[in-house]
Amino acid sequence: MSLNSPWRADFPALDALERQGQTYLDSAATAQKPQALIDALAHYYANGAANVHRAQHLPGAMATQAFEDTRHKAAEWLHAGPSGQVLFTHGATSAFNLLAYGLEHLFQAGDEIVISALEHHANLLPWQQLARRCELKLVVLPLTAQGVIDTDAAANLITSRTRLLAVSQLSNVLGTWQPVRQLVALAKAQGALTVVDGAQGVVHGRHDVQALGCDFYVFSSHKLYGPDGVGVLFGRHQALGQLRHWQFGGEMVLQAGYHDATFRPAPLGFEAGTPPVSGVIGLGATLDYLNGVNQVAAAEHEARLHEQLRAGLTLREGVQLVGNPQAALASFVVEGVHNADLAHLLTEQGIAVRAGHHCAIPLISGLGLSGAIRVSLGLYNDSDDLKRFFNALDQALELLQ
Ligand SMILES: Cc1ncc(COP(=O)(O)O)c(C=O)c1O
Repeated sequence: MSLNSPWRADFPALDALERQGQTYLDSAATAQKPQALIDALAHYYANGAANVHRAQHLPGAMATQAFEDTRHKAAEWLHAGPSGQVLFTHGATSAFNLLAYGLEHLFQAGDEIVISALEHHANLLPWQQLARRCELKLVVLPLTAQGVIDTDAAANLITSRTRLLAVSQLSNVLGTWQPVRQLVALAKAQGALTVVDGAQGVVHGRHDVQALGCDFYVFSSHKLYGPDGVGVLFGRHQALGQLRHWQFGGEMVLQAGYHDATFRPAPLGFEAGTPPVSGVIGLGATLDYLNGVNQVAAAEHEARLHEQLRAGLTLREGVQLVGNPQAALASFVVEGVHNADLAHLLTEQGIAVRAGHHCAIPLISGLGLSGAIRVSLGLYNDSDDLKRFFNALDQALELLQ
């Protein structure tokens, strides 16, 4: 069945990529951008750039207004309640680092941090390094055969020693939704703080962070069709109150002397220096655009396309799916074929997919793999993209197998 995307025309890069002979199937790495965002960036730069929260002049007031409007829009997007619970960072990775440094003072030697076996390095290494700095134990939740965090094992591993849980909502390698609500509930029952990595999850469906029950929720704008250089960190008011300031500089200060200073509370106290003004304004325009997209239709389109992707891969001899992907992406390996060789031949045919360890080396090596090819989908992909991918895959396999 042929599936067209009614949103494809809203993303001018898709046409441009097609003219370059490229089929873009790497949206889990970064997504293409809607015209609405491109227009907003052009408008901001063409009509007067200004710094935020500091200038008394009109351009400064306008930039500050647009910047703060995005905070409201991001809070609405996440059903986060008051917008003061949304902080802007320079990406998901810097949000995790902010948390790992900002919460460090709460830990004592012997305390435990619980993550899972499928975490992206961004939600692994900051905790691993915190554990090393403070002599904590990093507990790794195992996965079921389906590639889902094992909640039975979690019930035993999350204990009164657990001070923090940090887990992904949707795996960037396996394409599996994780039982975040149950895990958060287990951690909360032990009085632990909870962090959800929404970098992939936020792109596929609307989520309610209050219903999830987590203390912190993190995502990157650039995967949600927004500009790069912007991360969003939601924190419950009470949890934000426990964060210590970690980066110091302009505008996060209340009072400063040569030998002492006092700092603003969240959000501004955690946005030291000039923030990514244009990026945040662009994210606001992207959220406006996405608010106009019928979410039910988008979810159906993505689900159908994902089914075509899965079915096509499963059909091919020697192709093995990595795990049991449920949404957004599928990773695979081919018996007797090195993923780098296959990736090379796909690239030569203009297929933009990701190959390698996907910033999850412990997961990939734990699965006994050296790497995998990942095909990931966005709102704008259609079945012609998959047709071109499968033709290229068949050609490559004919050469390699
Ligand atoms: C699940 C997950 N978490 C975190 C990140 C890190 O995001 P960023 O590189 O935008 O900081 C990624 C990016 O691939 C991801 O897929």
